[in-house]
Amino acid sequence: MGKQSWKAGNMLYPVPAVMVSCKRAGEKPNIITVAWAGTVCSEPAMVSISVRKERYSHDIITDSGEFVINLVTEKLAGACDWCGVRSGRDCDKFREKKLTEYKSEFMDTPAIAESPVNIYCKVVNIDRLGSHDMFIGKVMGVTVDDAYMDEKGRFALEKCGLIAYSHGEYYALGRKLGKFGFSVKKTAGRSKKKTAAGAVNGTVKKKAPTGKRKDKA
Ligand SMILES: Cc1cc2nc3c(=O)[nH]c(=O)nc-3n(C[C@H](O)[C@H](O)[C@H](O)COP(=O)(O)O)c2cc1C
Repeated sequence: MGKQSWKAGNMLYPVPAVMVSCKRAGEKPNIITVAWAGTVCSEPAMVSISVRKERYSHDIITDSGEFVINLVTEKLAGACDWCGVRSGRDCDKFREKKLTEYKSEFMDTPAIAESPVNIYCKVVNIDRLGSHDMFIGKVMGVTVDDAYMDEKGRFALEKCGLIAYSHGEYYALGRKLGKFGFSVKKTAGRSKKKTAAGAVNGTVKKKAPTGKRKDKA
């Protein structure tokens, strides 16, 4: 198998491109598109966003100590890209893209009402990494669009039409391949070839993971 060796660069894809809203007291809110975003801790829930110092949003987030991550749907893809190529120094992004400010109980910074999932974060650390400063945010709360709540009280995230960003391009999400732990779950009705060591189809049987939340890393 042949491989090419490249110099160091960012190739961790796909990632979510998110719309981060921010606001300094007494000023208009702003939105910056961020692809260098991630979940960094489960308990307490913490996330990171990496922002270049020259971005208008950088100092707003530094001064206010808070930001909101708004997940991006297919419908919001155009606005997401636009907010990533225009600066809030020159325009009012909420107004220009006809987005609605949503004021939650968690903080002054508004979320984007049109986004189905809004993650409210307080900055607990800023790591000066080089080109980007990484803001570590403690999640103070989340709001979700109740249009996606089903009759059992489950939030149907898969119906929101979220998008991914990969190597400079935006993608709609494709078909579902499985569920957390599917690789070790017994499938009813499938032919099982047992081996002497108790392996099924060549894989040693393991119990499926249990617990309430099955998406935790
Ligand atoms: C898909 C996409 C991803 C981006 N990711 C980042 C990022 O992770 N960090 C960053 O500092 N800028 C990122 N940018 C660039 C900023 O969003 C862009 O410079 C924006 O105009 C800054 O807005 P502001 O000056 O109003 O803060 C991204 C842009 C796009 C289109």
